[in-house]
Amino acid sequence: MQEISVFKNKNLKKTPTMPDLEEASRDFKWEDAKKEIECFEDGKMNAAWNVIDVHANGERKNKIALYYEGDDGIIEKFTFGEMSELSNRFANVLKKLGIQRQDRVFYFLSRSPELYVSFLGTLKAGAIAGTLFPAFGDDALRDRLLDSGAKVIVTEGPLKERLYKIRDSLPDLKHIIVVKNGADTSKGEFCYNTEMAAASSYFEIEKMNPEDYSFMLYTSGTTGKPKGVVHAHAGIVQQYLSAKWVLDLQDDDIFWCTADLGWVTGIVYGLLGPWACGTTQVGYGGRFKPEKWYELIQRYKITVWYTAPTAIRMLMAASDDLPKNFDLSSLRHLCSVGEPLNPEGVKWSVEVFGQPFHDTWWQTETGSILITNYPCMPIKFGSMGKLFPGIEAAIIDEAGNPLPQGAEGDLAIKPGWPSMMRTIWKNEARFKEYFRGNWYVTGDTAMIDKDGYFWYVGRADDVIKTSGERVGPFEVESALVEHDAVAEAGVIGKPDELRGNIIKAFVMLKPGFTASDDLKKEIQQFIKGKLAGHAYPREIDFVDSLPKTRSGKIMRRLLKAKELGLPIGDTSTLEND
Ligand code: WT7
Repeated sequence: MQEISVFKNKNLKKTPTMPDLEEASRDFKWEDAKKEIECFEDGKMNAAWNVIDVHANGERKNKIALYYEGDDGIIEKFTFGEMSELSNRFANVLKKLGIQRQDRVFYFLSRSPELYVSFLGTLKAGAIAGTLFPAFGDDALRDRLLDSGAKVIVTEGPLKERLYKIRDSLPDLKHIIVVKNGADTSKGEFCYNTEMAAASSYFEIEKMNPEDYSFMLYTSGTTGKPKGVVHAHAGIVQQYLSAKWVLDLQDDDIFWCTADLGWVTGIVYGLLGPWACGTTQVGYGGRFKPEKWYELIQRYKITVWYTAPTAIRMLMAASDDLPKNFDLSSLRHLCSVGEPLNPEGVKWSVEVFGQPFHDTWWQTETGSILITNYPCMPIKFGSMGKLFPGIEAAIIDEAGNPLPQGAEGDLAIKPGWPSMMRTIWKNEARFKEYFRGNWYVTGDTAMIDKDGYFWYVGRADDVIKTSGERVGPFEVESALVEHDAVAEAGVIGKPDELRGNIIKAFVMLKPGFTASDDLKKEIQQFIKGKLAGHAYPREIDFVDSLPKTRSGKIMRRLLKAKELGLPIGDTSTLEND
């Protein structure tokens, strides 16, 4: 564990929305929180209403909702009123295409204004929105689109070809909408611009049951294909409240969440939560470059910034002089998510920005931040912080019993918080696997100290967090064995200073193939094409055999222990011991 030192921020530029955690947690009831979210008659609701229309119908109609800057440097801005009308138009486009409530509409789209608009329009139409990371290769795409049964896909010229490669294996896919000017109508594709122009800007929003599904998103576990984590409209209560209390969003803030909308952070805190607070957001569609990021903070006078430890480490590595060339004085609150935030990163940010990064912990499945450092609270360097009001958590043992304070074990949460996933799409059995007794088990191991601060220990399973992104070893192994030269493969996460972990593969070649650097490179390219750039093994070792259990399962634990020079532990189930 990290050496404990406590940091009290004496440079708060504003009174936090939550001035005192204990007071906010005392007598906290979700019923009270729900009252802050406008509903229709009979308790019906629609998250898109709370995110956009309440503001468009009120005093924020002409307030900027989004500054969008693309890779090409073109800047666009949209008010809440405009976002409301555009998403109405998209909802009408979906209705015209015959989309019904709870049908799935997916986007294989780079970050762009169209992505925000179509996501909201989908919710308005009562359908389920699903984003896809634009770097996905054909296997990654096929798994997700086939399982979700998406009926409509919104895509763009350069990505469309990847979709066509797998089009024939998607029986549920009815329509392809292409943004900008990339549509080939002779193939039956719809042109986004033409359809939007022809659609009415008036739409009678679908009034949903709070438990109806709003969005879904695929994530990885230790085994099997990626699973479709499904969220409900009711989650907006907590997404709103956590954006307000954790990101501390206030009316004059300019907020930037750096995550892609293909991941849950992008959806929940790069779209839903901050807009539910009526906050102006910046969306940047270009690549990571330290100078560019600082330039964005300066240009848009960003006040609240939500990013990830790998990005922070890359900024730290860039140069200490670089930030001095920019006016970053607008920044007043910084948050981080996705992987452990090193104390060095927090200390660095105090030096460079005058503000500490506040760690936040959550998961695709939890739908919003559950553990965090609040601006009102001293930070213990290296700790994830404390629970969100209304959340009950414990460190439990293998039988599901809570362990005493200070013990390391499985981090578990009492189910029932509003933004919790509702199911795994078409796979109730996999949903049930998350539970042990009365607890939702997160897959992380942690410790709670005497002051109620949570300390991250590691993953309890084989899931790999690389640059903050979550990769299942099974998916990488499955893709590897599809290569002609590969007989078998085992994949682990290997600790890495910059990326948290990198993906490392141990590969057994088929007879007749010879290990070489060229073959390594070829295999790496092959995986990039099938999965995505972040999911390829940066390191490959060719091996003669892989350790397996008697039932034939590759023992990743053993591969990892050997790689890291750790004790190999219990090998009683090993095949050839
Ligand atoms: C896993 C969830 C939803 C946020 C983005 C990631 C790891 C997340 C932290 C943190 C240490 C963290 C955990 C978690 N993680 N936040 N503050 N400190 N680890 O969502 O892709 O579903 O991954 O990310 O291992 O279980 P995700």
